[in-house]
Amino acid sequence: MTREHTEGSPPESPDEDNPAHPTTDGGTVDDVALDPWGSSAVDDYRKLFEQFGIEQFDEIIDQVPNPHYLMRRGVIFGHRDYRPVAEAMRTDDPFAVLSGFMPTGDPHIGHKLVFDEIIWHQQRGGEAYALIADLEAHSARGLTWEEIDEHARNYILSLLALGFDPEEGELYRQSTNRTVQDLAFELGIEANFSEFAAIYDFDGETDVSHMQSVVTQMADILYPQLEEPKPTVIPVGPDQDPHVRLARDLAARVSYFGVTEAYASFEADPEERELIADAYETLRERNSEETIRCVDAANLLETERESGATDSEVTTLETAITMLTEAGKEPLRPRTRIVVRNATDEAFEALIESVDGEKRVYDAHIDVFEMNKQEAEQLARTVEIENGGYGFLPPSSIYHRFMTGLTGGKMSSSIEASHISLLDDPETGYDKVRSATTAGQETAEKQRELGGEPDECPVYELYAYLLAEADDEFAKKVYEECDTGARLCGDCKEQAATLMKEFLEDHQEKRAEWEDKLDELDIEFDSAR
Ligand code: TRP
Ligand code: SF4
Repeated sequence: MTREHTEGSPPESPDEDNPAHPTTDGGTVDDVALDPWGSSAVDDYRKLFEQFGIEQFDEIIDQVPNPHYLMRRGVIFGHRDYRPVAEAMRTDDPFAVLSGFMPTGDPHIGHKLVFDEIIWHQQRGGEAYALIADLEAHSARGLTWEEIDEHARNYILSLLALGFDPEEGELYRQSTNRTVQDLAFELGIEANFSEFAAIYDFDGETDVSHMQSVVTQMADILYPQLEEPKPTVIPVGPDQDPHVRLARDLAARVSYFGVTEAYASFEADPEERELIADAYETLRERNSEETIRCVDAANLLETERESGATDSEVTTLETAITMLTEAGKEPLRPRTRIVVRNATDEAFEALIESVDGEKRVYDAHIDVFEMNKQEAEQLARTVEIENGGYGFLPPSSIYHRFMTGLTGGKMSSSIEASHISLLDDPETGYDKVRSATTAGQETAEKQRELGGEPDECPVYELYAYLLAEADDEFAKKVYEECDTGARLCGDCKEQAATLMKEFLEDHQEKRAEWEDKLDELDIEFDSAR
């Protein structure tokens, strides 16, 4: 089987159906191969880790109580800052989960991954939110409101059928959530066009409503924290990572205070600070008693200047030396610095009041000497909230692999045979699986002799991502039987097709039940337009 390794655009990616239309998503990871589910895939996802700083989910799975099967099977492969969420789960503290769906077509088995992730976090005690990104669909994809209304209803029904509890959680449409719109407006003050252009490739032709849909998504992401800041996880495909990063940035930018570390009254950047920190440690080791002065560190760093370094290292070294020299006799001492960002004067006063121990107050920052960074952040957030600020925690995210299309290549909502819609007739679902591409050998003999390649097989993926559900033994059995040649593709597909048919029957029965109850729920499906 051949597969396009360079075309990583996910099924949810908006530019997939309409490449000519500028979109908010996908662009940043387009050149990264997204090869779902497979041992070789770790390599393909490397860029996401190295280039974008997404962390490997593997490394924290131990911190998650009873991880979901999508986590256990590596379908959820990456995260940003998921630790606070895992911790809240362990300690029964408040946390939230939120994701959004562009109602551009029928919900399909790719969306089911995200539905499941939301529902799982809800069942673990998280406040759960799911939203219909109708503003985005209308502005970035040009869907009519009639189309949007119909699709929105279908997404919600599938989410409910899969187990979302609407009494506990919240479902909303971007366009009718006034609170989200207000928050979007506030966040927009901290973002500007140049930044959007850099992140999303927007240009002078990009329409303003499209930009508004971006700030709306930022507001979606922070919405669960409006009443009370809490760890919040956003389960999405990696194409949404630029949004997550921007939301994390904006959460910090609207905050009252920022917290950094410093060694003297001047402001050093992180690289300079590292050099100064090293110099401080060296001097401290040499003499643990005496006051260390900035000029001492400058002299020490001078001796390093000669030893071969790259240009940028030399520049950093030089600016650090200049700052230290100018500070001269000023003592060099590690401290935590709380800087005013959006704080009112009263809030800054309140902060100064609430710092215990030695402190030094400046115009727009305060240096504290008996508090580490984390303690200072905690205090700053408390003061912010008490004085009318949001106090947002940076939102976290988890990333799942994209499913391979049943016909090979990527799964796409615009290629019928490549995906299974949650609304597909069960017989159609059965047929689609029966006709799927496999990674088996050409003949049964060869298959028995050499085995298939489950890591490369869209049918195996169906088992691992969906059909085996939480049954790891079963998923493993399919894998091993394929790998060793005990399993032939015809039988394998027959079994998968039957399971798919059963799944669709069951799912659609549940959808029908919810359809009857839908009126009782307070969800607005029809736009007021
Ligand atoms: N942009 C997302 C998509 O293309 C939809 C979305 C809107 C979203 N708001 C969100 C996703 C908030 C996660 C969180 O599918
Ligand atoms: Fe794929 Fe199943 Fe064939 Fe293995 S036996 S290659 S999993 S269809």
